[in-house]
Amino acid sequence: MLRWIAVALLLLASSSALAAECEVDIAATDQMTFDTDAIEISKSCDTFTVNLTHEGTMPVSSMGHNWVLAKESEVNDLATAAITAGADQGYLPPDDERVIAHTDMIGGGESTSVTFDVAKLQEDEEYLFFCSFPGHSMMMRGSVTLVD
Ligand code: CO
Repeated sequence: MLRWIAVALLLLASSSALAAECEVDIAATDQMTFDTDAIEISKSCDTFTVNLTHEGTMPVSSMGHNWVLAKESEVNDLATAAITAGADQGYLPPDDERVIAHTDMIGGGESTSVTFDVAKLQEDEEYLFFCSFPGHSMMMRGSVTLVD
């Protein structure tokens, strides 16, 4: 009996490890919103993928959205640098080390994805995702947390 329980627990443990979601679908809207404000990333994932869909109809020039991952302490400076970088750079400073991962800037009806190494995240650090389009980062942001 005990042996069966041990086997069952082992099976449960291995299936939950396999079931760890190493990607998330996020929708953005013409109302300047993401449909989530918290993303949890399992440490068991080698890489993590964000699939971003802009469900609105407005063009990238007026309601552009991207998904940018950075340390919480650097998001506000990064959002300012993004405005300086301008539309030609997709509102992100090129090759900026503060950007841990980011998607392309997209308009209504478009989708994009990014995959990054989970090893880039540290357990004792606070992370945020945000949209770097001018004026969007205060509304369009959320937490990114490493979980077991
Ligand atoms: Co946006």
